[in-house]
Amino acid sequence: MNYNPLVIANWKMNPLSASAAAHLFRTIAKEAKRSEGAEIVFCPPFVWLHLLPKAKRGLFLGAQDCFWENKGAYTGEISPLMLKNAGCQYVLVGHSERRKYFQEDDAAINKKIKAVLKVRLRPVLCVGEEARDAFNAEGKLINELSLIIGEQLEKGLAGISAAQARNIVVAYEPVWAIGTGAECSYTDAMKAALYIRKVLAKIYDRALAEKARVLYGGSVDSAGQTTAAGYIKEAGLDGLLVGGSSLDASEFIRIIKSLT
Ligand code: PGA
Repeated sequence: MNYNPLVIANWKMNPLSASAAAHLFRTIAKEAKRSEGAEIVFCPPFVWLHLLPKAKRGLFLGAQDCFWENKGAYTGEISPLMLKNAGCQYVLVGHSERRKYFQEDDAAINKKIKAVLKVRLRPVLCVGEEARDAFNAEGKLINELSLIIGEQLEKGLAGISAAQARNIVVAYEPVWAIGTGAECSYTDAMKAALYIRKVLAKIYDRALAEKARVLYGGSVDSAGQTTAAGYIKEAGLDGLLVGGSSLDASEFIRIIKSLT
C-alpha cells in the first residue's frame, strides 16, 4: 500500500433531510478524528454538500457525479467548477448506477474525467463487471471481465496524459456485489486490482500503475466472510468505496477503526 487507506462514503440518494445528513456527518466525524491513519471522503447528495465542512484533518468532501462543462445552459447539471467552489476534492465518475440508470457510456465518462482534472479535482473512476461468473471455476479472471475492465479503463482514460492520470483513483466495483449481499473474495479482488494495474501500466507506465490508488467497493462491512479491513490487509487494496454501510454511523465507524 502506497498511502493511508482512502475510504469513500458514497451516500447515494440518502439521507432525506438536511438534519439527518448533518447528524450523520457529525457522528462519524467526531469518532473519525480520533482514528488516525485513514483518509475519509464524504460524498453526500449535492444538496447536502454545504452542510459538511471542507477538508480538515483527514476528512474530505467529494461528489457522486458531475457534468463535463463548467457552466451554461445544461438544465439539472452540476459542474466540476461548482464542486470545487463548494469545497470538494474528489468526484466519483462512472459509478455503475450512473452507467445503468443514466446510460452513461465510456465516452461521456472520459469527458467527465477530463473536466474534473481540468479544475484540479481528483476523479474516482469506477469500473467493474456485471456478472460474477466472469471469474471461471478456478477463480481466474476470464476474458469477459478483463475485456470489460480493460475497455472501461482504456476508453475512460483516452487522451489523458500520464501527468494528469497520477491524480486519478480507480475503484473496482464488481456490479454483482453492489447492494446484493454477494461477496467478492479477497483473491478475486486482488486479481482484479492486479489486472487494473496491468492495464494502467500498458496505457502509461509501471511506476504510475504501482503508485495508483485502487479501491474496492461492493457491500463492504465490518464483519462476515469478507470484511472491509480484509480487502486492505489481506487483498492489498488501497482503500474502499462504501455505499450502504456508510449510512449507518456505528457500522461506518467500526469499519474505519478496523483499518488502523
Ligand atoms: P454498497 O455500494 O456498499 O451499498 O454495495 C457500493 C457502491 O455502490 O459504491
